[in-house]
Amino acid sequence: AALAPTVLPALSALSAEAQPTAPAARRFPQGFLWGSATASYQVEGAVNEDGRGPSIWDTFSHTPGKIKNNDTGDVADDHFHRYKEDIALMKDLGLKTYRFSVAWPRVFPQGTGTPNPKGLDFYNRMLDTLLAAGIQPYCTLFHWDLPQTLEDKGGWQSRDTSEAFANYAGYVAEHLSDRVKHFMTLNEMSSFVDLGYGNGVHAPGLKLPPAKLNQVRHHAVLAHGLGVQAIRAHAKPGTKVGLAENATATVPVLETPEHIAATAKAYREVNAGYLTAVMEGRYTDAYLHRAGADAPKFTDADMKAIGSPVDFVGLNVYNPAYVRAAEGPAGFAMVRPPSSFPHMMSPWLHVGPEAIYWSPKLAAQLWNIKEIYITENGASSTDVLTPEGQVFDTDRVMFFRNYLTQLHRAVSEGVPVRGYFCWSLMDNYEWADGYQYRFGIHYVDFTTQKRTPKLSAHFYKEVIARNGLA
Ligand code: NOJ
Repeated sequence: AALAPTVLPALSALSAEAQPTAPAARRFPQGFLWGSATASYQVEGAVNEDGRGPSIWDTFSHTPGKIKNNDTGDVADDHFHRYKEDIALMKDLGLKTYRFSVAWPRVFPQGTGTPNPKGLDFYNRMLDTLLAAGIQPYCTLFHWDLPQTLEDKGGWQSRDTSEAFANYAGYVAEHLSDRVKHFMTLNEMSSFVDLGYGNGVHAPGLKLPPAKLNQVRHHAVLAHGLGVQAIRAHAKPGTKVGLAENATATVPVLETPEHIAATAKAYREVNAGYLTAVMEGRYTDAYLHRAGADAPKFTDADMKAIGSPVDFVGLNVYNPAYVRAAEGPAGFAMVRPPSSFPHMMSPWLHVGPEAIYWSPKLAAQLWNIKEIYITENGASSTDVLTPEGQVFDTDRVMFFRNYLTQLHRAVSEGVPVRGYFCWSLMDNYEWADGYQYRFGIHYVDFTTQKRTPKLSAHFYKEVIARNGLA
C-alpha cells in the first residue's frame, strides 16, 4: 500500500540523512611504488652454475627429514635461466619495482676471500633486462643463503660472519649501485636467527641455549650496521640503504587509547633484539634486564655501528600480534589468538589486516622514520589449477584487498609508506615447507616450469593500474 502523503516527506528526509556518503575511491599517492618480491634460494635454482659455492640451505635441504617432501632448492623456479620470462610477467602486471636478493655464495663461494669472477654475471643480465622493462630494482643482500664455509667456521655465532657480510655487501654495492639505488642489508633477522639457531626448523638447524642465541642476534644486527657502513663507503653517491625486517606487528585488541598506548610500548619491546636496536643504537633496559646473565656481549662501538642511520626501513608484514593494556611494569600483555582464528594455508599466517596499518604507523611514530616500504606481504593458499588452466585464489584476493585497505588507511593518515612489494611474484621454495605452500600470484607447475597468472595476479594488476582499490 502507498504511504500516506503526510509520512512521505518525513521518511525521505530521514533516508537522506541516513544515506552514507559514497566512499571515495581509495587511491594511493602519485608515484606509489607497486612491486613484488622474491629471494635467491627460493627462485633461482642453478645451484652449481657459474662457480656458486654451497650455502647452508643446500646442506639443510639435502638433509633427509628437514623439509616437507624433502624438497630442495636445486631447481626451484629455474629463475636463473628464465629471468627474462619472469620479467615479462612483471611488465605485464605493470610493476614499478622488483625486490630480489643476491646469493652471497655466488659472489663469494667461500663467504670471504677472492670474489668469483662470474658471481655477479647473472645479476648484471637480470638488472639490464629489468631496467629495460622500466622496473626499478630493490636489492636484498642477505636472504638466508649463508655460504656453508662460513657456517663451518661458526656461522652467525661468530662475529667474523658480521665482518664477512660487510665485506660482501660493500663489494656488491660497488658493482651494482650504478643500477640499484636501494639496498637492503638483511632480510628478516628475527626469522633466520630464531628459526635457524633457536628452534632449528630452518638452516642450519641449531637449537642454541639463550646466551648463545642472544649472541647470534647481536651478530645479526651488527652485520646490518657494518653492512650499512660498507655500502655507504663503496656505493655511488645517492644510493639508499635500509633493511627488510619482519618486526612483530603489534595490533591493539581494541582501538582505544589505553590499548593503543600499550601496543606502542609492546612494539618497541618485543622487537628490542632487532629493529629497536637498529633504530636506537642500543638495547632497551628491559631487554637487557630480561636477558640477565644471558645478555649478549657487545661494545659501545658495536652499538654505534648497529645504530648507523638508515635511509629507509622495509617492513615485512604478515600476521598480527595482538596486545592489550595490562597492569605491571611492562604495561602491556600479548594476547594469543584463539585456535579458531582464521589463517591461510600456513598455520602461522593469521589473517589480521590491521597489522599492515599498525606496523608502519608505530615504527614511524617511535623512530621518526621518513621512508618506509612494505617489503613483503602475501598469503599461502591451497591453489588448484583448473582443467582450463586457471587458478581462482579468491582467498588470496580477499587477503590482499583487506590488507591493502588497511595500508591505504595508514597512507591516508600520512604514514610515510612509499611502496609495497607483494610476496611473491610466483610460487617458490617456501623453506622448510617446501613447494606445497604456494605464496605466488603466478602459479608455477614445478614439473614443466609453466607460470600461470592466478586471479590474484589479475587483481594486483588492477590495483596497480588504478593506483588503488575500487
Ligand atoms: C618471509 C620471508 O622473507 C620469505 O622468504 C618467505 O617466503 C615469506 N616470509 C613467506 O613465509
